[in-house]
Amino acid sequence: MDKIIVKGGSTRLQGEVTIEGAKNAVLPLLAATILPSKGQTILHNVPILSDVFTMNNVVRGLDVQVSFDQDHNMVTVDATGDLLDEAPYEYVSQMRASIVVLGPILARNGHAKVSMPGGCTIGSRPIDLHLKGLEALGAKISQVGGDITATTDGLQGANIYMDFPSVGATQNLMMAATLAQGTTIIENAAREPEIVDLAILLNKMGSDIRGAGTETLIINGVDKLHGAEHDVVQDRIEAGTFMVAAAMTSGDVLIKSAIWEHNRPLISKLQEMGVEVTEESDGIRIKSDVNRLKPVTVKTLPHPGFPTDMQAQFTALMTVVNGESTMIETVFENRFQHLEEMRRMGLHSEILRDTALIRGGQPLQGAQVMSTDLRASAALILIGMVADGTTSVGELSHLDRGYYKFHEKLAALGADIKRING
Ligand code: EPZ
Repeated sequence: MDKIIVKGGSTRLQGEVTIEGAKNAVLPLLAATILPSKGQTILHNVPILSDVFTMNNVVRGLDVQVSFDQDHNMVTVDATGDLLDEAPYEYVSQMRASIVVLGPILARNGHAKVSMPGGCTIGSRPIDLHLKGLEALGAKISQVGGDITATTDGLQGANIYMDFPSVGATQNLMMAATLAQGTTIIENAAREPEIVDLAILLNKMGSDIRGAGTETLIINGVDKLHGAEHDVVQDRIEAGTFMVAAAMTSGDVLIKSAIWEHNRPLISKLQEMGVEVTEESDGIRIKSDVNRLKPVTVKTLPHPGFPTDMQAQFTALMTVVNGESTMIETVFENRFQHLEEMRRMGLHSEILRDTALIRGGQPLQGAQVMSTDLRASAALILIGMVADGTTSVGELSHLDRGYYKFHEKLAALGADIKRING
């Protein structure tokens, strides 16, 4: 099992770092490639991540041609011809995001069978909003033996009010509605930049979607869609992770091609803390002096609130800021496990249900730690850069799902870090 070994203490990250296409954009974009009944879809700026290989296999499993030219970060999909309608357990169980193929398969075939995704360490991850929305569009849903089966004689446009602005449910319903008869209005929809990126691709395919990025989506159904070409949007969470890495090491780092607009909630919190964040022509520059940073209170919320996917990394930053900071996690019910590991490094923190109080500025010692989920892995590596001594982070399969060459990029900025196997 690989481990990442970080030597901490006096790390100050300097230089510039490039970021990849967004994992949380490319996964639904790959699901959308199922929808066109003619022509190829080509995605550029595709990140080389294990979740992308998994989603490619899910789509391939539907008898669709998928090729991934990793040298050019390009995926080509041709979904013309008959589609199988079952997404097998072996892939869905690896990655719960596969559930977003349910809507596209149903819209194309009138029948879909997808294995029920399990929960994960950060929460139970139900899909009730996905299923309720598909039923509103005219699907009959049954759940037998761990599989979800959806059938329809033809999806009909509907007015859907989402109980919660779920990202995945918004994506599933938006894709299903593109081929429904009539108009669908989705209210209280998710507003993340990845939703906007998906709507851009779907409209390039011949859909008629308006309002992406706002809380109300209007989708006028069309008869069929055609292939299209699209650049995956930059990964705002990878960009944010490097912003935090620079901030917590009193660094001076340019995060190239980072998009200010996509990171506004994080940037505003960094600035409130006293981090210098400036927009340059080719990215966002972070400069900070840890000794001058002030503690803050952060609450995670659906976009445009502070992203839950930056919560773990931001708590790592809070550990080096003198005073008591507060992190409130409102999106997932079990997303503070990294704090248990950080306690082993000397962190004083107290968790009261959805609120973590973090007493920053105390000395931290390197230790052997285990990562429990993707963003926790990144957070533990970051805190290893500022703890005294050596930190070893195991269970890197989580990290590899969402970060490309993470330790190499940190090493290029000056971190004393390496990845060993065994
Ligand atoms: C997406 O997950 C992201 N994953 C997650 O990123 C991200 O944390 C999450 O959105 C929130 O921003 C991908 O895009 C592949 P949700 P998703 O449906 O779609 C509840 C990462 O680290 N809910 O918005 O699954 C759910 O329990 C990952 O990159 C229901 O109750 O998130 C959770 O509490 C982690 N019923 C909340 O909504 C439903 O039917 C947010 O879930 C669906 C969701």
